[in-house]
Order: sequence, then structure tokens, then C-alpha cells
Amino acid sequence: MTDLLTPVLSENWADERAWKLTNYERRGGYRALRKALGSTPAEVMETVKDSGLRGRGGAGFPTGMKWSFVPKDNPNPKYLVVNADESEPGTCKDMPLMLASPHTLVEGVIISSYAIGCAYAFIYCRGEVLHVIRRLQQAVREAYSAGYAGKNILGSGYDLEVVVHAGAGAYICGEETALLDSLEGRRGQPRLRPPFPAVAGLYASPTVVNNVESIASVPAIIDRGSSWFSSMGTEKSKGMTLYSLSGHVRNPGQFEAPLGITLRQLLDLAGGIREGHELKFWTPGGSSTPILTPEHLDLPLDYEGMAAAGSMLGTKALQCFDETTSVVRTTLRWIEFYKHESCGKCTPCREGNWWLVQILSKFEAGRAEEGDIEKLLDIADDMGGRSFCALADGAVACLTSAIKHFRPEFEQGLKTPAWELFPYERSALFDTGAEVRTAAGLKGAHA
Ligand SMILES: Cc1cc2nc3c(=O)[nH]c(=O)nc-3n(C[C@H](O)[C@H](O)[C@H](O)COP(=O)(O)O)c2cc1C
Ligand code: SF4
Repeated sequence: MTDLLTPVLSENWADERAWKLTNYERRGGYRALRKALGSTPAEVMETVKDSGLRGRGGAGFPTGMKWSFVPKDNPNPKYLVVNADESEPGTCKDMPLMLASPHTLVEGVIISSYAIGCAYAFIYCRGEVLHVIRRLQQAVREAYSAGYAGKNILGSGYDLEVVVHAGAGAYICGEETALLDSLEGRRGQPRLRPPFPAVAGLYASPTVVNNVESIASVPAIIDRGSSWFSSMGTEKSKGMTLYSLSGHVRNPGQFEAPLGITLRQLLDLAGGIREGHELKFWTPGGSSTPILTPEHLDLPLDYEGMAAAGSMLGTKALQCFDETTSVVRTTLRWIEFYKHESCGKCTPCREGNWWLVQILSKFEAGRAEEGDIEKLLDIADDMGGRSFCALADGAVACLTSAIKHFRPEFEQGLKTPAWELFPYERSALFDTGAEVRTAAGLKGAHA
């Protein structure tokens, strides 16, 4: 079964002090950079295009094509910005990658910057993960000392400054245009598009924004070739990728496998659902992607397979929930997150998420009224596709898919509280001593 795994990005994660430059170099690190500098930027871009690499930040846009949108005749400086905000609930791939092997990303940044023709690259890292930021900063320092960054890189005449920036601690700062505002020192709120960042991004200059995993995949593509990469995966979803399994699974963690593997195969690798329980529902790519059920276990986890099932591959954050979990409670927790993280710029999202929380709380408490399910769907309809950015679409996706697959459980919320139908203690994985919600309000630590 383990031959299903294709460790490339994660190949060195278990190495002793894998994050040190010498250990990265021992495994062939920075060989791809030398190769790239021996080619023209256009050739590097072409190799990435040919590989079929698609953005790993959620939307799956072809990476090489995005790079080619940067106008050649624009006199302004060009920028590469790496999106290392990783705040989507359940997503845990970029942080482990940067913690274990920051040089994989740094090498990718230098090669990608060379291909785009930029002299400044920024890594915008989620502010709360100080240990990752420190490790990145140290890796960038090592790259400068070894002549891989800074002036005249490896004698090629190419100059690049790499800046690690600590983010502003908001989920919306992962949305690429809000990220750019935040990087410029303003409050992170999405910008109107067009113009797209490739034309007018950071400081109104041409900017490529890519996810950590997208950029970290570039050195292996340059080193081993586009056909090697495109030989993995499915027809339109090429290459290997990092899946993160979490929730009620025996051995949660990151699994690197070709696109198109199924959740059933990944669950086998992860030891299955916890002892004595069975899968009830799951997300393919974090809470912003519509939930799926056990009937979807054998679908290919690629962009097309998930779209055909009415969902999205997203960040490949496979959160698995067993039969002890209340769908109503889970949906409420997710919507509470979106309400809290809504930047407030547009009315449907700011007001809609607030009202969804009010109504879903009634379902959780068993006090919902006739017509409340329709009210939820009506509000969702006013938000989806009518908000300024995709944060609201994510909130709508988890709610409407939950009602679609588990409507009877919402109907039970007209009479019975979720904590009676699904006692919290049964679904909790750890006894955290946390307070639990009951009909009477909050109660002390559960025994
Ligand atoms: C609310 C919201 C949060 C997002 N958070 C992230 C994130 O943390 N990391 C990320 O790479 N992309 C995130 N995205 C997607 C980015 O806007 C953008 O599509 C991505 O960084 C492009 O990189 P890629 O082409 O390499 O996938 C988010 C989008 C939205 C709407
Ligand atoms: S959809 Fe939400 S997060 Fe996006 S701009 Fe509107 S209020 Fe802000």
C-alpha cells in the first residue's frame, strides 16, 4: 500500500536537521537552481508550463500560465509573493513543509523569480507561526551566505532579494489581494479585480502570487523534468501533492501521493477511521469545500473528480468525521469561524454569516422553528456569488452541502439539542478539559 506514496516534497522530512542548508545540499538541494541559471528564464517558464503544475492554494490555476500573464513591457518592478498564510480550517501542509525543509521553498522562490524576471520576492507567512517564520528567516540567511540569493547569484549576474514577512493574523489575509494590501502595510481586505495581480499587484506593479506548495514543487520539476512530473497524476491534474488527513483517523498527518488517489486509499495508509467507528462525512479541501459522504470514498481526489461530485479539491485538507459527530454542530462551528473572519467589507458576507450563526445556534439547541432550514438556504443564496470575495462562497459551500446530505439531522434540530443526539464527549478525540455547551449554557470541563 505504501507504494502509493510518492514522497518528493516530503522526501527529506525525517532527515536529521533536514532544515539545515548542508543537509539539504547533501540530497541534491540547489542543483535545480544551477540548472535553471544555465537556461533562459523563458525556458524555465516553459518547463513549468509543460509539467502541468496547477496552483496548490485551492483554485488549481495552471502555474506556468499565471507566470506568463506578467507583462514584459511594464516598466515597473516585478514581484513574486509566496502565499504562506495557510489558515483554511483543516489545512496543514505548507507549515510542515516550511518547518521541515524551508530550503525546498527558498530554492523554488529563487528559480521562480528568475523565470518571472523579478528582483524582489516576498514570503508572506501566517504571523502566529513564529517557529516557522524563524526557520524561514534562517534558511534565507543561509541561502544569502552560500551565494544562492542576493547579488550576482552563483556568478550568473542575476540579483534577487528575498524577504520573509510575518502576516497580520487574519484568515482573509490568505486571499491574494487582501494579502497584498496587508503586505503594503494596510488592513487586509480584498481588492476589486480586474486588474489582476499579474498586471497590478504589489505597489501596483506586476505580481505573481503563488501558494507555498506550488513554488516548492518547482525545483523538482526543473531537476527531473516536466515529463517526470506529468507522468504522475491524472489527465488534467498532474503531479504529486500533499494531502493532510485529520479528525477521527487513526494516524492523521501528511501523505504525499499523486493527484487522483482516493480517500479510501489514503485512509488505508492512515490506519482507517478510529477503532469501532465509521466515516460519516468529510471535506476534500478544508471547510470551504462542500462536504462529502462515504459514498464518495472511491472518487479520484483531483480537480475534476471533486468537481464532478459537486465539491472542490481545495487545499486537499481531508477532515474526517465519524458517526459520533453532529453535522449541525460542525457546520455551526465552521460558520462561527467565517463570521469571525469576515473582513466586513461587503454586506452579504458580514451580515449573512452573523445571521447564519444565530439560526444555526437554534438548531444546535433544538429550538429551531418550522421554515428555519429554508431561511438558512435563503440567506446562503443571498451570499453565494453575491459577495466581494470567495470567503463567503466557502461559508455557503459547507452549509448548503451539509443540508443537502444531512437534512434529517437539521430537522431533528427543531426538537432535540445536538448535545443530546451527539454527546460532545463521544466525538472528542482528547479530553482537553474544555468547557462544553449545554441547553443551560456553558458547563465546566467534561469528565
Ligand atoms: C478567504 C481566502 C483565504 C485564502 N487563503 C489562502 C492561503 O492561506 N494560502 C493560499 O495559498 N491561498 C489561499 N487562498 C487562495 C489565494 O487567493 C490564491 O488563489 C492562491 O494563493 C494562488 O496560489 P496558487 O495559484 O499557487 O494556488 C485563499 C483564498 C480565499 C478566498
Ligand atoms: S466576502 Fe467577506 S471576507 Fe470577502 S470582502 Fe466580503 S466581507 Fe470581506
